[in-house]
Parts: sequence; C-alpha cells; structure tokens
Amino acid sequence: MRTMKNILVTGGAGFIGANFVRFLLEQSAETRIVNLDALTYAGSLENLKDLPSPERHTFVHGNICDRQLVDHLLRAHQIDTIVHFAAETHVDRSIQDPGPFIQTNIVGTYTLLEAARQYWLVEKAFPHHAVRFHHVSTDEVFGALKPGDPPFSETTPYAPNSPYAASKAASDHLVRAYYHTFGLPVTISNCSNNYGPFQFPEKLLPLMITNALEGKPLPIYGDGQQIRDWLYVGDHCEAIYRILEKGAVGETYAIGGNNQPTNLMLVETVCAILDEEMPDSPHTPHKALIQHVPDRPGHDRRYAMDITKISGELGWQPRQGLGSGLAKTVQWYLANQAWIAAIRQQQDYQRWLEQNYQKRGHKP
Ligand code: NAD
Ligand code: TYD
Repeated sequence: MRTMKNILVTGGAGFIGANFVRFLLEQSAETRIVNLDALTYAGSLENLKDLPSPERHTFVHGNICDRQLVDHLLRAHQIDTIVHFAAETHVDRSIQDPGPFIQTNIVGTYTLLEAARQYWLVEKAFPHHAVRFHHVSTDEVFGALKPGDPPFSETTPYAPNSPYAASKAASDHLVRAYYHTFGLPVTISNCSNNYGPFQFPEKLLPLMITNALEGKPLPIYGDGQQIRDWLYVGDHCEAIYRILEKGAVGETYAIGGNNQPTNLMLVETVCAILDEEMPDSPHTPHKALIQHVPDRPGHDRRYAMDITKISGELGWQPRQGLGSGLAKTVQWYLANQAWIAAIRQQQDYQRWLEQNYQKRGHKP
C-alpha cells in the first residue's frame, strides 16, 4: 500500500474537491494538503469552512494553467501526489461557451502533467514508486447508452457528445499518453453523477432542492426520462482514496452508484422527502412545482457504470443507497441555508439562471 505525504488537490474549493479535502483530513493523520483553486463561479471558500485539522490544509488561490505557480508549489511543498479535480464541469455552460472548458480541462491538465513530469521524472525528486498523478474524470466521455446496452466499463470506446465531455475525454487521453510515453505514474477514474453536500446549486439536485424551498418551479428538461447513475459524493471520495492507496499504475477505474432512476423519478423522490421534512410548508406537495421545459441540445439519454473492476480489485462498493443518500442530502441543504444564501447571491449565478432558463420560457 502506498503512503502519501504531501498532496496537491486541484479544484478543492468545488463540490467534490471540497468533500475530498474533508475526507482526506479525517482519513489520514499524516497527509498535508495544498489546495490549488482558481475560485471560478463554481469554487468557494464557503466550502472550506470548519475543516477538520485545518493546520494540515493550505489554500492557494491560483490557476492550474499557471505553470510557474504549479512548479513553485510542487517544490515548495515537496508534492508526492496530485489529485486533479479542477475543471469546468457544467454541460449546459459548455453548450453556451466551450472556451473555458478547452482552456482549463485540456490546457490545465497538460500544464499539471508537464510540471509533474519535470519535477518527478526529470529531476527525480522522489523514487518512482512514491509518486502518483490521479486524474478525476467522468462517465460522460463514453457518450450515451441505448435502453438495452450494457453499462459503461473501463473498455468502452470514447464517444463524447458535449463540449464538456469532449474536453474531459481529451484530458483523459493526455494523462494516458504521459503514462505510456514518459512513464509518469498515473491513475484515472471515470465516475457517474455525484450528489451530496456543497454541490453548486445550478446542478440538478441542489437546484431542485433550493427552488422547492422557495416554492419556485422545478425545470425538468424534455420528458425527464433521461437516466443517470447517481453516487453519493462521500462514496466517490472513498473510491479515489482506495485508488491512491492500492490502484495499479496506468489503470483506469469505473466508479458508479449501481442505481439508475429517471430524472423525473429522482426529482419526485426529492419532493417526497421535502414533504416529509416540512409537512407544514405552503409548497407541499412539492411535486406540484415540477415543470417540463425544452430539452438540452444533444442531451445524453442514459448513463450506467459497471463497477466490477474496482469492486473486485480494490474492494470498493458504494455504501450509501440512493434513498438514504438523498434524504441525507436534503437534510444537509435544509440545515445549511446560510451556505445556500451566500452561494446564490453571486451575480454570476443569477446571470446563469436568466440565460439558461429564460430562453426555455421558464421564469427562474
Ligand atoms: P465543480 O464545478 O463543483 O468544481 C470545480 C472546481 O475547479 C471549482 O472550485 C473551480 O473554482 C475550480 N477550477 C475551475 N477552473 C480552474 C482552473 N483553471 N484552475 C484552478 N481551479 C479551477 O466540479 P465538481 O462537480 O466538484 O467536479 C470535480 C471533478 O470531478 C471534475 O474534474 C469533473 O469533471 C469530475 N466529475 C464530476 C462529477 C459530478 O457529478 N459532479 C462526476 C464525475 C466526475
Ligand atoms: P446535471 O446535474 O447538469 O449533470 P449532467 O448533465 O452532467 O449529467 O444534470 C443531470 C440531469 O438533469 C441531466 O440529464 C440534465 C437534467 N437537468 C434537468 O432536467 N433540469 C435542469 O434544470 C438541470 C440543471 C439538469
């Protein structure tokens, strides 16, 4: 089992990154974290309040495309492990403006890979077995499944459909190439849709929860029969930790939640949980707030993941069932209204709601 001392987490002020920083600080008393994040609309220091063992966490406000800064951080903190979350992540934003996706997801990943190659392989800062570059990716690189198709696995050919998915696919290929060409010790994980605390409230679940709390309409794209494989974010963090400790260099791991509700079923379940949590709310039954709006262009119909490899080789299984995970998530948002208010007051967030929903004839 590999031990890690000094970890560079990129994008650690975003949804999954912030959950991972917490997970790591709790999990291992030895590790120190340097958290490099550009604090785009999706990143916030609100996500990093009240960390366990904050003395082992250093936040750096900066861009992964800044080679000088990355070079400096690797050396100043003797980084032996990189866990790369930083990305532009919202499919709908990538349809409106692909530019930042190309820059951060492709050029940013290339910058990190080059910096790691120089420090670890050229300068030989550590023994080869002591270093690791873990790249966090998505199931969206595989395209969409038809109703009877088997789930995606590590051997599924890439077929990205959105600019977001294409930029993540390009970054996966770069990471793979740095292993095959230069021998950089890498691992890659492709994970399905995450949900849980600290998710930015323009993604499906937090948008539905926060809108429902205010009695606003719940916009379902198209017929709502699209299928995603939902995973509780804490389970994703644990899977990444297992890969860092025990994953084989050069390998890819598919991660998923083993459940595939339609979007409509998922939102109806959230509404039922809200009805139970707040029986006296004037907006009960929350299901009545659901509104169908025009679909996303190129909308992938179905995703599903085959987790046989990571279960068999690393002993990882999701711990959280969908029902209990959704209940926990709704309760977290109910208990963290100050966080919602702080995040939602950003100008960019309001602008996004207007851009994305008004054109669908929907009042945000
Ligand atoms: P997010 O959008 O919530 O957070 C992304 C973070 O990256 C933000 O804190 C942002 O400020 C930071 N960032 C963006 N550009 C940057 C740059 N150029 N330099 C430094 N920091 C930058 O994303 P998330 O949902 O937490 O996703 C994290 C990673 O996991 C991404 O790589 C994503 O592709 C992958 N992933 C996400 C999901 C999901 O369901 N959310 C599923 C599978 C994989
Ligand atoms: P999203 O959270 O954007 O994740 P992704 O597109 O990366 O899977 O959306 C999840 C699903 O929810 C996706 O099928 C699109 C759908 N969706 C809606 O129906 N309405 C919305 O307002 C949003 C944001 C998403």
